[in-house]
Amino acid sequence: MKDMYILAIESSCDETSCAIVKNGNEDISTVVLSQIDIHTNFGGVVPEIASRQHLKNITIVIEQCLINAKMKMEDIDAIAVTYGPGLIGSLLVGLEAAKTLSLIYNKPLIPINHIAGHIYANNLTKKMEYPLISLVISGGHTELIYMEDEYKFEKLGGTLDDAVGECYDKVARVIGIGYPGGPIIDKLSQLGEHEYHLPLPLNDNSYNFSFSGLKSAVINLAHNTQQRKETLNKENLAKSFQDVVVEAISKKTMKALKDKNVNRLIIAGGVAANKALRNKLKELCEKEKIDCSFPDLKYCTDNATMIGAAAYFAYKNGKIATIELNAKSNETLV
Ligand code: KG4
Ligand code: ZN
Repeated sequence: MKDMYILAIESSCDETSCAIVKNGNEDISTVVLSQIDIHTNFGGVVPEIASRQHLKNITIVIEQCLINAKMKMEDIDAIAVTYGPGLIGSLLVGLEAAKTLSLIYNKPLIPINHIAGHIYANNLTKKMEYPLISLVISGGHTELIYMEDEYKFEKLGGTLDDAVGECYDKVARVIGIGYPGGPIIDKLSQLGEHEYHLPLPLNDNSYNFSFSGLKSAVINLAHNTQQRKETLNKENLAKSFQDVVVEAISKKTMKALKDKNVNRLIIAGGVAANKALRNKLKELCEKEKIDCSFPDLKYCTDNATMIGAAAYFAYKNGKIATIELNAKSNETLV
């Protein structure tokens, strides 16, 4: 197959992004405009504001991406876009832009599931080989996916309630340390001790996760401490909370690898940036001789580069959309 340059667009949540990716593994150009500063004032993403910001930014990121790559639309072979899951108003902005480009320039349109994008972020760092297990951990997802082969996904388990990133963000809000909570708790925990006893969530034999109980335990702890007119040690709480999260996630992940007899693990999504989790999984995988890889930090949180990487393999496997492609806010990977 000749070299393939895919222009990819991602706008499912609060990042407006465009990237050009060559052959599913080479980042030619990436532009990400984050709205975090705007949503921080509200302690979370406000969907209405997010879509308005995407509308403002979408043409800027596309133009800048082409300029940075020193390329024209005529040099592009296909257009890829995240069509779901995500915030419906946000998704629609990227989707309409991608459809317009595909129509005007007569390029194939490749529909990408946001989670597939997170998984293929790994291919930008290291060529993915199969079979593998992917742990997808982000603000919206906590899933264990088995991939027998390229672009074939089988869900082993997932969260029954809150996603892990969502839990980080809510805990951070309760203890008043800012948004997004993940990176802040990650940093604070490095200064703390494991002081508070919190329950290990869904400690069973399944591949499922549950984080709402842990979140409630932290909220109760915060309220009780306040009622007793005592103060919480935020560093220690961050450390105690993160220890439990890391244990819950690594336990289920190692079990899935063992049960499926797979010796490759890739981690995906915003929470894959977490230092403690990276260290723990690396350590466990080393012991079990499992090849464990993470995306580069810049490809962990939302970006269009990962969408362009996934799109190469989606296209190879016949996934091409018509102009009727619609956004699906609750789309699942499998
Ligand atoms: O993948 P992502 O950008 O968006 C979704 O698709 O959801 O993930 C964002 C999530 C947020 O919940 C954020 O708090 C979390 O990833 N996150 C982290 C870290 N960096 C980002 N969580 C834990 N530790 C981190 N270092
Ligand atoms: Zn994401």
